[in-house]
Amino acid sequence: MRPLMSGLILLGTFLMAGTAYAQQDSRCADCHFARPDAPAQQHLREWDRSPHGRNNVGCQKCHGGNESTTEPFIAHRGILSPSNPDSPVNRVKLPATCGSCHVGPYVAFQDSRHYQLLQGGDHRGPTCSTCHGEVDANLLSPKSLEARCNECHGEKGTAPRSARASEVRQLYDGLHVVREQIKLAEGFIKRVSDRARRQELQDELDQAKVPLTRAINAGHKYVYDDLQASLATAQQRAEALLARLANQPARR
Ligand code: HEC
Ligand code: HEC
Ligand code: HEC
Ligand code: HEC
Ligand code: HEC
Repeated sequence: MRPLMSGLILLGTFLMAGTAYAQQDSRCADCHFARPDAPAQQHLREWDRSPHGRNNVGCQKCHGGNESTTEPFIAHRGILSPSNPDSPVNRVKLPATCGSCHVGPYVAFQDSRHYQLLQGGDHRGPTCSTCHGEVDANLLSPKSLEARCNECHGEKGTAPRSARASEVRQLYDGLHVVREQIKLAEGFIKRVSDRARRQELQDELDQAKVPLTRAINAGHKYVYDDLQASLATAQQRAEALLARLANQPARR
């Protein structure tokens, strides 16, 4: 009796999980992929490959509309052209749309001059998609970021302040070093066989990740004091952890 019962319970859980997934699932992309006449094919491919596509962030999350139907008229009800100021993908609205999921960057961005420009209807400044792409959730390398700042702050840009871009590149090079240190530590910790010890080290790793995330978020003010302070803390913690890991055998 027992094995059968637990088998049934397992099956039940499995089916419920299946239903929940189907309810969350979005019809938008299914149809757009099936229709060669659907616009923005490149956008579609970028979505498909991106962390958004892979993590079930459906089209409706940014565009609105009704994702539960295959009837295009109903699906598209409420979807506005990006040039409409009420569209959630309008460049002025985009920070709030992206920010509903990415709260940390959004909050910092609101402290920036760039945000003030957007809100004031001055379109010379960047919005989220200027650095991350419209849908692909791209993270720029420090070198590409420098180039991106320079498109506007370089000598020929609309707001020339060229020293700024090279400073930014150095800071983000530093950030990438700390991220590598954390990855390295992560690899070592996985190989620690003592459970309690591993948990303790894992907690320390998490303690180093917190200020790293804070630094990345703070970067969205484009004035980098807070980024620098958090990054220094993250680096201290990552280095202390690596030193500790170096002083203990990986396997017992
Ligand atoms: C049954 C197929 C189908 C479904 C479902 C569908 N679309 Fe579309 N969509 C199309 C086609 C075809 C076009 C181009 C012709 C048109 O504008 O109707 C289009 C156009 C669009 C456009 C361009 C702007 C516009 O309205 O013309 C956007 C944005 C869009 N769809 C987003 C979505 C989103 C978001 C969803 C889900 C909430 C969705 N679509 C569901 C087929 C579909
Ligand atoms: C992470 C947010 C996000 C997601 C998810 C997303 N888009 Fe977009 N989409 C945008 C942005 C931003 C633009 C550019 C708006 C502009 O032109 O300024 C855009 C532009 C478009 C356009 C061209 C503009 C128009 O309305 O004619 C279409 C069509 C479109 N998206 C369809 C889709 C479809 C279909 C999906 C799902 C496969 C999708 N998008 C997923 C953010 C998103
Ligand atoms: C409905 C929630 C949602 C919305 C809206 C959304 N995202 Fe995302 N985003 C996610 C998820 C989920 C991931 C993948 C998991 C992760 O990396 O956090 C992600 C990943 C990212 C990443 C990559 C992070 C990394 O570490 O690789 C960037 C950058 C990003 N999104 C930017 C944006 C931008 C810009 C917009 C608006 C145009 C946006 N997102 C809209 C949920 C969202
Ligand atoms: C001027 C460029 C720029 C603009 C504008 C910008 N970002 Fe970023 N964003 C960055 C940089 C640089 C990073 C860090 C890249 C890295 O970690 O390598 C980043 C990182 C992120 C991440 C990853 C966070 C993590 O913990 O890994 C998300 C999500 C994100 N940004 C969302 C947004 C959103 C939402 C907006 C608009 C409110 C926005 N960004 C505007 C440059 C920008
Ligand atoms: C799409 C163009 C654009 C991009 C990309 C851009 N900026 Fe700006 N930024 C502006 C404009 C325009 C202003 C307003 C200048 C003014 O008020 O005269 C501004 C203002 C600023 C300010 C406010 C202080 C000041 O000098 O006016 C800082 C700081 C800043 N940007 C840093 C950066 C950094 C760092 C990057 C790259 C990570 C960057 N910006 C990317 C257009 C841009």
